[in-house]
Amino acid sequence: MRIAIGSDHAGFEQKQQLVEHLTASGYEVMDCGPADDYRVDYPDYGLKVALEVAKGFADRGVLICGTGIGMALCADKVAGIRAASVTSPQFASLARKHNDLNVISISGRFVDFDTNKQIVDTFLTTEFEGGRHALRVAKIMALDCDTLPYLPEE
Ligand code: RB5
Repeated sequence: MRIAIGSDHAGFEQKQQLVEHLTASGYEVMDCGPADDYRVDYPDYGLKVALEVAKGFADRGVLICGTGIGMALCADKVAGIRAASVTSPQFASLARKHNDLNVISISGRFVDFDTNKQIVDTFLTTEFEGGRHALRVAKIMALDCDTLPYLPEE
């Protein structure tokens, strides 16, 4: 599995640690930067990772900023992306099983590395359950269109 990973300055240290961990775990890791911890704007790196996943060059994306929130907001703007900010392994598991998350965004400032490692490992190894969740995810993805594809029944 090929993983695109990116951060801003606030997530840089944990990105480096995760690149090492994921590579050692056998994943093919595409480091989308930054290359150092100088201050950068998280939308630039959130977009890079999201595009790698949306275009099919990477299977999943991992983002790390201060809270995980800003980068999730950016990635979700890209058509084809289902991104969320996740702070527990349980939510990582549910986000895969129910939402088929393809980009995870984590906090480099408020969540320790061991927990983030568990979150990312769970994200990468948990399958989407499909079934009743498939139509709901399809409805989310239909929102990528400019025109409203369906109207919820009253
Ligand atoms: C950078 O200071 C911080 O705003 C950023 O890392 C992130 O937390 C944004 O959501």
